[in-house]
Amino acid sequence: MNKQQIQLLFQQVFNNEADLCVQSPGRINIIGEHTDYNNGFVLPAAIDKKVMVGIRKREDDLIVLYAEAFAEKKEVKIPEMKPQGDWADYMLGVVAQLIKKDYVVGGFEILLTGDIPIGAGLSSSAAVECATIFALNELFSFGLEKMEMVQMAQMAEHEYAGVKCGIMDQFASMFGKKDHLIKLDCRSLEYEYIPFQNQDFALVLFNSNVKHALVDSEYNIRRNQCNEGVEMIRKYHPQINSLRDVETEMVEKYIRPQDELIYRRCQYVVSENIRLLQLCEALNHNNLDNCGKLMHETHLGLSEDYEVSCPELDLLVKIAMEQPGVIGARLVGGGFGGCTINLVRKENLESVIYEVENGYKLSSGKESTTYIVSVEDGTKLI
Ligand code: GLA
Repeated sequence: MNKQQIQLLFQQVFNNEADLCVQSPGRINIIGEHTDYNNGFVLPAAIDKKVMVGIRKREDDLIVLYAEAFAEKKEVKIPEMKPQGDWADYMLGVVAQLIKKDYVVGGFEILLTGDIPIGAGLSSSAAVECATIFALNELFSFGLEKMEMVQMAQMAEHEYAGVKCGIMDQFASMFGKKDHLIKLDCRSLEYEYIPFQNQDFALVLFNSNVKHALVDSEYNIRRNQCNEGVEMIRKYHPQINSLRDVETEMVEKYIRPQDELIYRRCQYVVSENIRLLQLCEALNHNNLDNCGKLMHETHLGLSEDYEVSCPELDLLVKIAMEQPGVIGARLVGGGFGGCTINLVRKENLESVIYEVENGYKLSSGKESTTYIVSVEDGTKLI
């Protein structure tokens, strides 16, 4: 949808013209999964799948929301705002954060549309949060910095959606840059753009089209398990605050003898940070094969040690890795369903897509969906 089409729909839904329109992208992550809430590194990028909102000020204290995907309209009075248990929470959640920080939010109408597949591990919810806070910041001239908006969007997810997510998704959606990955240090929040443009390979996502139940609760459980691991080490090294400060040897020495499960969780996170730094080094030397090898190691760690994969994702990765031209493949995002990310040599693209789609269907009985994505800019006015 372009701006004219958003305006047209806005007119139909609200009988008025939107004051402004904003787009905010979904994200991929090359490596660094489940490291963000452990103060580690991530390497995401914004993609060409995005949400778009049109927004208009009202003179009262009513928020009127419309989601094109569900053809559903909702009305909420600002003083009576509370979590709704549905799509509206990603938008109301950021309003709640603004109010918490004493920003005066008046009534408004907002239309939500876009093409990020929901539940695919591409962070459609973070994109909605970022689009909403960016639009409100423009509409009411709050003068917020991008990083503040990212942090408030993250807290909206914690408090309105109940997922204790890290900062990666909102950060990538807001700070994305065309043809660049973002290497973010989630401890210092320092970041660096790394050029990521290669004529020889494509970024391919295979959506398993499954989303297993308990995703959100399992996510929070992983987070707690990591904290438990940190506590075990802190007894001996009180200066340690997160798994980012932990060495492999400490995990072996202090956690392994006590708790095998916590050991596997922590050992995955510690090695994932190391893999990320190695992958950046490999990218620097244009060593694609090494990048692919590291991505696949991440998948194995996520599947066997962190246990956030599922049979469908393992199958997509297995079939992909058997194909000539696949440099690397792994699940992307939180896990338990959604997409795999694949680096595929362009000359093999057609046959890889054919083989993965068919192999997946034959073995699982399910249909996958393929997206070839490009790396694009973050949240902006349209
Ligand atoms: C979800 C969360 C992120 C991150 C990933 C896993 O997408 O929202 O903060 O933890 O899972 O890397």
